[in-house]
Amino acid sequence: MIRLFHLVHTSLGSKVVVALTGLGLAGFVVFHMVGNLQIFQGARAINSYAALLRDMPILLWTVRAGLLALVVFHIGLAIKLAIRNRRARPIDYAVRQFREASVASRTMAVSGSLLLLFIVFHLLHLTVGVIDPSFVEKLDIQGQRDVYGKMIHAFQDPLLVLVYVAAQIVLGLHLSHGVASSLQTLGLEHPALNRLFQGAGPAVALLVVAGNVTIVLAVLLGVVR
Ligand code: HEM
Repeated sequence: MIRLFHLVHTSLGSKVVVALTGLGLAGFVVFHMVGNLQIFQGARAINSYAALLRDMPILLWTVRAGLLALVVFHIGLAIKLAIRNRRARPIDYAVRQFREASVASRTMAVSGSLLLLFIVFHLLHLTVGVIDPSFVEKLDIQGQRDVYGKMIHAFQDPLLVLVYVAAQIVLGLHLSHGVASSLQTLGLEHPALNRLFQGAGPAVALLVVAGNVTIVLAVLLGVVR
């Protein structure tokens, strides 16, 4: 246990934990998007799906605690690594060599910070209901929490749609570089598989962004109502 603690404190150990927690969070985001796509199957499908976890409070709170731990370790160690890298190179390069680095890789700290802001906003909006309390307690005709109604109500507002679509662009940038570089950190590099791993980041990002943007635009345009 003590050895594990020391290992996490090394740069390599921290990078491995950032990679593992990042992949865990990417897995959640894919799972969450697929779950939300049930809006296309109607109110009954998505409300029953949402009720499934709520009816098992121990599982719900275990998942929530797990997600919180992933977020805390991911952000905490990413900040630590960034500070350590900066201290190791106190004088900035006279001419920054940006040719090799993609926009996504150069903006990881900014996209990560914006994502954190979005997650806080999203939880206050759709889970806690502080931003719009009108649907928090509302039940559907089966007596289940009306998550469907909540989403329809939310995404009929063009301003909220703008916030969610903008957040998806930021999420896409973060995922695109994050997934690819996490696979690299974990040593999943193999000449034959390199292109596959490099493509995995943009592929996951595209999948999540396309799914999420389709949901909010389908509501805004009245395809789902
Ligand atoms: C357009 C995109 C998204 C939609 C439509 C959406 C929809 C929702 C809805 C309806 C809920 C509340 C569910 C309920 O009341 O039972 C929720 C909760 C949540 N969402 Fe999202 N979401 C989106 C994007 C995201 C993203 C990008 C993240 C993370 C990066 C995220 C993280 C969460 C979390 C952590 C919860 C709380 C789950 C809990 O109850 O513990 N969501 N989302």
